[in-house]
Amino acid sequence: MKQDMIVILDLGSTQNTVIARAVRALGVYSEIYPHDITVSELKKLPNVKGIILNGGPNHIVDGAPIDVTPDIYDAGYPLLSVGHEPARCEKLDGWPAEDEIPEMLRPFVFDTCKAEANWNMKNFIEDQIELIRQQVGDKKVLLALSGGVDSSVVAALLIRAIGRQLTCVHVNHGLMRKGESESVVNVFRNQLDANLIYVDAVDRFLGKLEGVADPERKRKIIGAEFIRVFEEEARKLDGIEFLAQGTIYPDIVESGTKTARAVKSHHNVGGLPEDLHFSLVEPLKQLFKDEVRACGVELGLPHEMVYRQPFPGPGLGVRCLGAITRERLEAVRESDAILREEFAKAGLDKKVWQYFTIVPDFKSVGVRNHERCFEYPVIIRAVNTVDAMTAKIELIDWPVLLRITDRIMAEVKNVNRVCYDLSPKPNATIEWE
Ligand code: XMP
Repeated sequence: MKQDMIVILDLGSTQNTVIARAVRALGVYSEIYPHDITVSELKKLPNVKGIILNGGPNHIVDGAPIDVTPDIYDAGYPLLSVGHEPARCEKLDGWPAEDEIPEMLRPFVFDTCKAEANWNMKNFIEDQIELIRQQVGDKKVLLALSGGVDSSVVAALLIRAIGRQLTCVHVNHGLMRKGESESVVNVFRNQLDANLIYVDAVDRFLGKLEGVADPERKRKIIGAEFIRVFEEEARKLDGIEFLAQGTIYPDIVESGTKTARAVKSHHNVGGLPEDLHFSLVEPLKQLFKDEVRACGVELGLPHEMVYRQPFPGPGLGVRCLGAITRERLEAVRESDAILREEFAKAGLDKKVWQYFTIVPDFKSVGVRNHERCFEYPVIIRAVNTVDAMTAKIELIDWPVLLRITDRIMAEVKNVNRVCYDLSPKPNATIEWE
């Protein structure tokens, strides 16, 4: 393995990802683990040069303060405590401003731990290729290729690591954006020569989702149905043992760790059915979104693909609020296409991280051709973020918003109102469900 690693132990901090990113900003790889990891589990991790004990407000679990497994203090690793009192080790006092944190950690990382600044995408890719080959051997892997950044980067990484042992399956669940399924087939089958199977599962998904209004149930149904479709494909394919997924770090953190409560289950973590028959290959699961893009660039993927805005696993299903209907789904899809087109014309596609439309499950009164109409609103959301853990809304020029509004009113059926969502994350999340 090429890279040194600093391990961060989560002792109830809300700042684990801040510390992890700060260490990576120094050019040293870092991973976050639960506080109760054992010494023998630690010893199995490659190139661990030191450990940061990261305490914080969630350090009381079941009425008692948590601590690390006691023999970690004597295991010979350099230790640094951040906001964790009982620790017998070096301490970082107080909380510096976020962009000073890497400097505060520098003496520990380089002088105490003697870590080398060898975390970069070239080394990450080489390490992952080695790990993927070790894990997979000569077996076959199935990949859920949605065409989003994460699954595209996983596909490229796996094609490089194991070539034709990879089969990509693109499931059109009816919750894709306009023209998206067609372009996945075009790029991967025709340009990248991937082994790609296209599955039209539109009726099947919409049938399962009929009348289901609860967001978590919708997500779980979509996730579970996805896996079932893959299992069916795998059975047809003969000899598939692994399922690759574009799980990234925020998916894991937000689905809940031992000390952090779940924000919402992401379909590729919380929604997995219990009788899953595959072993998972998740080479991006320790990466933040911006690092996934850097990995894609290093792998030589086209710019449009790497910088394509993220799209949630459950697709337009979580933007067609409440129980999904074909009518409202169509309104989400068409309004989203208009928004994307107009953002591109205004150059906003390069400035805004994620932008999309939402159609809620209520109607409002309007007037069309001098007659009363009772139709759905479309809500526009446009946010900027680095890692999707927090987000700010983007200030869009009024003329652009008015043009989009006019087009949505004129071109999208069953819509008589357009609104703009001003909420940052927190307290909102980026998606509405
Ligand atoms: P939230 O709504 O949690 O979204 O603030 C953060 C980012 O994650 C995307 N997202 C998902 N991605 N599966 C995914 O792969 C999911 O279930 C999912 N839900 C949200 C969201 O679009 C945003 O970029």
